[in-house]
Amino acid sequence: MAARIFITRKMEEQVVAPLREKFDVRMWDSESEKAPRDVLLREVVEADALWSVTADSIDQEVLMAAPKLKIVSNMAVGYNNIDLEVAKERGIIVTNTPDVLTNTTADLAFGLLIATARRLMEAEDTLRKGQWTSWSPMGYTGMDVGGAKLGIIGMGRIGEAVARRAKGFDMRVLYHNRSRKPEAEAAYGFEYAELDALLKEVDFVVILAPLTPETKGMIGERELGLMKKTAVLINVARGGIVDETALYHALKEGQIWAAGLDVFEKEPVPLDNPLLTLPNVTVLPHIGSATIKTRLGMMELSAQAILDTLEGREPKNRIV
Ligand code: DGY
Repeated sequence: MAARIFITRKMEEQVVAPLREKFDVRMWDSESEKAPRDVLLREVVEADALWSVTADSIDQEVLMAAPKLKIVSNMAVGYNNIDLEVAKERGIIVTNTPDVLTNTTADLAFGLLIATARRLMEAEDTLRKGQWTSWSPMGYTGMDVGGAKLGIIGMGRIGEAVARRAKGFDMRVLYHNRSRKPEAEAAYGFEYAELDALLKEVDFVVILAPLTPETKGMIGERELGLMKKTAVLINVARGGIVDETALYHALKEGQIWAAGLDVFEKEPVPLDNPLLTLPNVTVLPHIGSATIKTRLGMMELSAQAILDTLEGREPKNRIV
C-alpha cells in the first residue's frame, strides 16, 4: 500500500502532483482556512508524512496520535509550532524551509520599517477616506531611516540580510545574538551589543530571533522602557517574543514612537486587540515570506523532504 501523506493546506498542484504519482496524498481543501483540529487528529492516525504550516500546532497530542508518522515537513523557517522533544522521542523527522525565504523576508522587514517610520499606511488611509485636505507643513511627518542606527535582535540569515540592506541606507548596525558573527562584523562593520545597550542606543529595533523558551517575552515593559522615545520597534519574527500588553502601553504613553508588526501572539490577530486601536502601529498579516517565487520554493522544499524521507533518503533541512 502506498504511503499516506496529509497536507494541512491546499498547496499548488504543480508541487503536489509528483507526490500524488507515488503516494496516497490527502490534502485539506482550503488555502486560507486551517484544517480543523479534529480533522488533523483524525488524518495523522494513518499518515506516514505530515506537511504542516506555521499555523498548525503539531503538539504532543498530534504526534502521539500518529503511530506511522515518519516526518513533519513544516513549510516555514520557524518551527515553534512543533513539539520537537516529542518528535525526537518518537523518532519523527522534522524539517523546515530556510534560505529560500531569506531575502524575501528581509525585504518585508525593511519595507515595514520604512512604512512604520514614514507612516505610509496612515497617510494612505487618510487619502482614501478623503481626509487629504491640503499639503501640510508638519502633516504625516515621520522618522528618518537613512543614517539612523539600527539594532537587530537575532542575527541569523534573515537578520544579516536586513543588516546588509541597512548599509545601503547609511545606517550604523548593532546586533544582539546568542553568538557573535565575526565574519559579518569584519565584512560589513556590524557591531555586537548586549541587549540592554542595543535597546538604549538605536533608533530602530528589528526582531528576528526564533521563538524559544529563552526569547518568549524577551521584549517586555523593562526592555521597552530602555528604548528611546523616538524609537521604532519592528517584529517580523514571532509574536510571543514581545509582550503585547507592555507594547500597547509603551506606544500609548509615548515611551516608544511606533511599532510595525507582521506577527502577533495570537494569529489571526483578534480585531479587539488593543494594539489595533493605535495610529502609531503598522500591522500586516504575517506576510514575511509572501512572494510567489518564495512560497513556491518553500512548497518545493517541503515536498522534497517528504519524498526523500518516504523513499529512504536523508532529507535536507532536518531539525530533528
Ligand atoms: C516562517 O517561515 O517561519 C514564516 O514566519 C512563515 O511562517
